[in-house]
Amino acid sequence: MIDFNDKVVKQFTIATILWGIVGMLVGVFIAAQLAWPALNFDIPWLTYSRLRPLHTNAVIFAFGGNALLGTSLYVAQRTCQVKLFSDSMASVVFWGFQLVIVGAALTLPFGFTQGKEYAELIWPLDVLLTVVWVLYAIVYFGTIATRTVKHIYVANWFYAAFIITIAVLHIVNNLAIPVNWHLSYPVFSGAVDALTQWWYGHNAVGFFLTAGFLGMMYYFVPKQAERPVYSYRLSIVHFWALVSTYMWAGPHHLQYTSLPDWAQSLGMVFSLILLAPSWGGMINGIMTLSGAWDKLRSDPIIKMMIVALSFYGMSTFEGPMMSIKTVNALSHYTDWTIGHVHSGALGWVALMTMASMYSLIPRLWGRDGMYSTHLINVHFWIATLGIVLYIASMWIAGVMQGLMWREVDANGSLVYSHVESIEATYPYYVIRLIGGVLFFIGILIQAYNTWKTIKGEKAEVKSASEAVGVGA
Ligand code: HEM
Ligand code: HEM
Repeated sequence: MIDFNDKVVKQFTIATILWGIVGMLVGVFIAAQLAWPALNFDIPWLTYSRLRPLHTNAVIFAFGGNALLGTSLYVAQRTCQVKLFSDSMASVVFWGFQLVIVGAALTLPFGFTQGKEYAELIWPLDVLLTVVWVLYAIVYFGTIATRTVKHIYVANWFYAAFIITIAVLHIVNNLAIPVNWHLSYPVFSGAVDALTQWWYGHNAVGFFLTAGFLGMMYYFVPKQAERPVYSYRLSIVHFWALVSTYMWAGPHHLQYTSLPDWAQSLGMVFSLILLAPSWGGMINGIMTLSGAWDKLRSDPIIKMMIVALSFYGMSTFEGPMMSIKTVNALSHYTDWTIGHVHSGALGWVALMTMASMYSLIPRLWGRDGMYSTHLINVHFWIATLGIVLYIASMWIAGVMQGLMWREVDANGSLVYSHVESIEATYPYYVIRLIGGVLFFIGILIQAYNTWKTIKGEKAEVKSASEAVGVGA
């Protein structure tokens, strides 16, 4: 028996759920602020502008990050049939990562920021994160290097791409000259700075929010379905096509800016190409259920995974469309972008994380399944409903805003003032808030279910149909 280090995986798992609650609570609060701005309470650290980066950092790096670090260390050990390269280093990685997150939670509301989206953290935290990341890479690649199995399973390729690329992106985009303990100036300026920032921003989507979670998908979907990956060959094509395409698509965030026109077109073309590997991956994930489709009826964890993959397909269809210049002329600056973000973030990233956690938790704590399958099913439906309300309201609001802003009368004057478009958006902000609250309740249910599972309790099965999972 190999003495796997599950302690650190358990720590990351609990941190995922706790930071998920924090990040989504802040998301719900800022969604409420957009509907009722008085919720700023005239308190500087409660203002929308300071809490928004707190939300994005908490959900992406704290919720998503803890899930990725934890599952990668679990998957590496299981697929390489070897214990972690260094237990003490893994422990430093866990606590160091939490320190960065607490640092972010303390500095962002007080207005300490670099002002670059998704790279807001001030330079001392950037340095700390770099050290933690290097240690993480040593633990991860050390484990792969000392494996007792010849083959490196494809999930590890995706995790490896995530680890290497995030290191490169983080270091290059944060190159800056410190002036005092919290202020620094970037070494790049003007259009070069913008291009570097969105090369970083887009690849944060590509390698943090996508490649890492594809690693999770390639391990946990086959595990939960008890089926091999549909096509191993496709997974390798998927990997190389994805990593070689993502890097070039960043300029689609800067359409119609002072970036050279050819760079904008390059971003658009590579975004369109990206549709193919993305859908290849989605199909590979969904088709893994071939021969076991009945599990879609009986296992809510599988349901969650398949819906996550469907949202992955949806957002990776929508993204390339939005990168087309003429479409972007309508969508940019509107809530359509926010709808796209959350169809990827809630639908793909969060659902895949939540489903993988349900699959992982009983294994980690040696339990025979989660405390309550019924509660997983409730979570699934409430979360799905929440996502639909969130993204549908933002799509309608976004298209409406784009159309109102460009409408001109016979004299060429704008028909609507900006404030009229905000007024028209109000009901959609309220609907988005309701969707967000539902999604947030979902993670609270998961936390409760996890707590009971860890305690070793099992919910009573109320009916025969529930016992076999019919209707679940
Ligand atoms: C309860 C769930 C959530 C709610 C209510 C929520 C709400 C919000 C709101 C109100 C905004 C600001 C929108 C704006 O500026 O107009 C936002 C931005 C954002 N959220 Fe969430 N969110 C939730 C979950 C998540 C999750 C789980 C992720 C990622 C895994 C995420 C990623 C983001 C990102 C990346 C942005 C910035 C989008 C941009 O700049 O275009 N959110 N969220
Ligand atoms: C083939 C894949 C994808 C392509 C080509 C793509 C393309 C785009 C485009 C064109 C925009 C709008 C840029 C703008 O007008 O400002 C955008 C925004 C965004 N997308 Fe995607 N997308 C893809 C997949 C995803 C996925 C799967 C996620 C999340 C998990 C995601 C997260 C985001 C975020 C966070 C933003 C907002 C960035 C910001 O302005 O702050 N995208 N994407």
